[in-house]
Amino acid sequence: MTATPAPTAAGSGANATAAFRAGTTRRGPADVDQQRVSTVAHALLDAVHGVIRDHEITYPEFQAAKQWLIDVGEGGEWPLFLDVFVEHEVEQVAERTQHGTKGTIEGPYYLPGQKTLPAVTALPQRADEKGDVLVFTGQVRALDGTPLGGAEVDIWHADADGYYSGFAPHIPDGNLRGVITTDDQGRFEITTVQPAPYQIPTDGPTGKLITAAGWHPWRPAHLHLMVRAPGYRQITTQLYFHGGEWLDSDVASATKDELVLTPETRPDGRRQATYDFDLEPA
Ligand code: DHB
Ligand code: FE
Repeated sequence: MTATPAPTAAGSGANATAAFRAGTTRRGPADVDQQRVSTVAHALLDAVHGVIRDHEITYPEFQAAKQWLIDVGEGGEWPLFLDVFVEHEVEQVAERTQHGTKGTIEGPYYLPGQKTLPAVTALPQRADEKGDVLVFTGQVRALDGTPLGGAEVDIWHADADGYYSGFAPHIPDGNLRGVITTDDQGRFEITTVQPAPYQIPTDGPTGKLITAAGWHPWRPAHLHLMVRAPGYRQITTQLYFHGGEWLDSDVASATKDELVLTPETRPDGRRQATYDFDLEPA
């Protein structure tokens, strides 16, 4: 048996930085009001100064922090670090004005332009793809229940070892990723494999912080989804698995009770899970 080569933090980080530079779906405004910059930058610095005062930060600690910040940048790990420890708060602010299916963080591993697939399909996978077969079905609808035929379900997830294609060099590009178009009833049926929990790379600066603080580096197993239809607000979300490990202690704080699947085992041994998406007008 050959061991799966573990992707390095440097590899994942550099790829995540490249993917971010290539453009994600949640880019901010091009010009920001000077007053807004001043207000937010002041508030941020005030918060840092408060931590220094309250915890009596020493010179060696300040220099260690400087070194760590440099390392995160050089390792390309800012997308990983920010999406694990900060994005959930931004998402919860966005959620205040959202209706329909709940969103959650996008994370650093979305890649646009994946293979387009019909409503009943299997995700691209290796001939010997490891893991239990998972059949994921559902319907995309408007808030009033109208089925949305021709909607897109853009899905990506980790493999049975917890690694993402496009970021782990041993996995072919496009593996366990695809853009499914719903049928005229807004329905889809996607055959894939059960993902494993995801572990933040432990060999980079983000992993070093987690180890130094005695935290754990795990996210519960999840499917990532963007669901979109013309005239409706896109949902970026994730679905988790009932009883899954780390569901109550996600390092990225991105689980929500409404986003937990309860798969059933079918007579043919496959696991089947259903979820319907409700989109609000744009
Ligand atoms: C990270 C990885 C994920 O798979 C995810 O969903 C969120 C964050 C990360 O390593 O930053
Ligand atoms: Fe993820």
